[in-house]
Amino acid sequence: MRRKLAAGNWKMNGTASALSELAELARQLGPDDAETVICPPFTLLFAACEKMRGTAVAIGAQDCHAAPSGAYTGDISAEMIADTGASYVIVGHSERRDAHAETDSDVADKTRAVWRAELTAILCIGESGADREADRTLPIIQEQLTGSVPDGATGTNLVIAYEPVWAIGTGKVPTLSQIVEAHDFIRAQLISRFGKTEGDAIRLLYGGSVKPGNAAEIFTAENVDGALVGGASLKAADFAPIIKALSQA
Ligand code: 13P
Repeated sequence: MRRKLAAGNWKMNGTASALSELAELARQLGPDDAETVICPPFTLLFAACEKMRGTAVAIGAQDCHAAPSGAYTGDISAEMIADTGASYVIVGHSERRDAHAETDSDVADKTRAVWRAELTAILCIGESGADREADRTLPIIQEQLTGSVPDGATGTNLVIAYEPVWAIGTGKVPTLSQIVEAHDFIRAQLISRFGKTEGDAIRLLYGGSVKPGNAAEIFTAENVDGALVGGASLKAADFAPIIKALSQA
């Protein structure tokens, strides 16, 4: 059985005052709820880990550099993230693939860095709107999986987030059958590459305009093990109902 995972990506949102949302979220979660991780900006990692110690909310980062240390002004290594007490790192988010020209090979290097620091990678893939319209969704997913997932993936070191780029921050959500098709395809690819045991153990999250109102339907899909949530993860009042829907799915 894969443990369900609700992941919140705060993107470039949140200053110190936002830590109160973490405390409120932790207060609303019980022992039967899905595993929950919040990925705030780097500036809040230490304080967020401190504040969430002993609660059910884990903390993650949104990116890392591939090297452990060195002359890389402005960058943060996976080892530095581990030092804050965080346990997850998002890699290959489409906003970084777009705005920072990250390639599949860069994402693979970052994923290896996350593993080197003994953290879990949440690796994002997903087609653009143009890919979807050209009926190229599955080939694109296959290419991204092949190019950005390194050898050695397991159910404990890797989570895959399927985030169609056209669904991020737009309020547009794929149909349930489109989500099922993508997630079943990803599962089959992982099993064929990593074997039945590990391929079946890697958790698959759906991301893109997940809200309290649409979460329960999305979580009915067999190979949807949780969600990677942007906007609706910023407030405990929005994220908690999504976590509850996942916990009851
Ligand atoms: P939204 O939930 O705001 O659409 O963002 C999704 C996302 O990009 C999470 O990584």
